[in-house]
Amino acid sequence: MPTDNPPSPQLNDLASILLSEEQINTRLKELGAEINAAYAGREIAVIAIINGAVIFVADIIRQLNIPLRLDCIRVSSYHNSASPQQAPEIIDRIRLNIEDVDVLLMDDILDTGNTLAAVSKVLRSMNPASLKTCVLLDKKARRAVEFEADFVGFEIPDEFVVGYGLDFAERYRQLPCIGVLKPEHQGI
Ligand code: IMP
Ligand code: MG
Repeated sequence: MPTDNPPSPQLNDLASILLSEEQINTRLKELGAEINAAYAGREIAVIAIINGAVIFVADIIRQLNIPLRLDCIRVSSYHNSASPQQAPEIIDRIRLNIEDVDVLLMDDILDTGNTLAAVSKVLRSMNPASLKTCVLLDKKARRAVEFEADFVGFEIPDEFVVGYGLDFAERYRQLPCIGVLKPEHQGI
């Protein structure tokens, strides 16, 4: 939603803006239409991987005209940690029963693929009628495991981006656009 409040000074921490608020909004409408067409006449369960997917999911589900139920799943991330090889772990499970339900799993970004591959495996073990995935961003160059999303907002280059739900150390999620963080702001 556009705001009349002054822009965030945190926008100055961006080296460049990759996707403007307007570009994101335009693509969300198209993506919503793709999802509506794919599931016409059915009810789905949207599972959001939090925290990153909150903004994207809040906006995209308001483009959907199919009935849906919403739940969230929280996954541990080992990004840039001492044990990057460790598989992501579910640390807060879903509450919905998704057996025989059409499930659409959503995340902010598909990077190495480890997160979506791990969560898909867990959800598939719960016997959904179908399981598809939807991501706002796809960084294809970084893939470590074979994984493709069914619905993709934008393919982006291999750069660390923040805004519109994406964070660095939990910051920048509220920025309305998506930008590349200046290297001097990527330190802890
Ligand atoms: P994957 O398991 O490597 O595919 O990573 C997916 C998770 O990594 C996403 O849910 C994001 O939280 C995080 N991530 C990957 N790339 C970026 C980025 O450029 N900016 C912010 N978070 C990122
Ligand atoms: Mg994240």
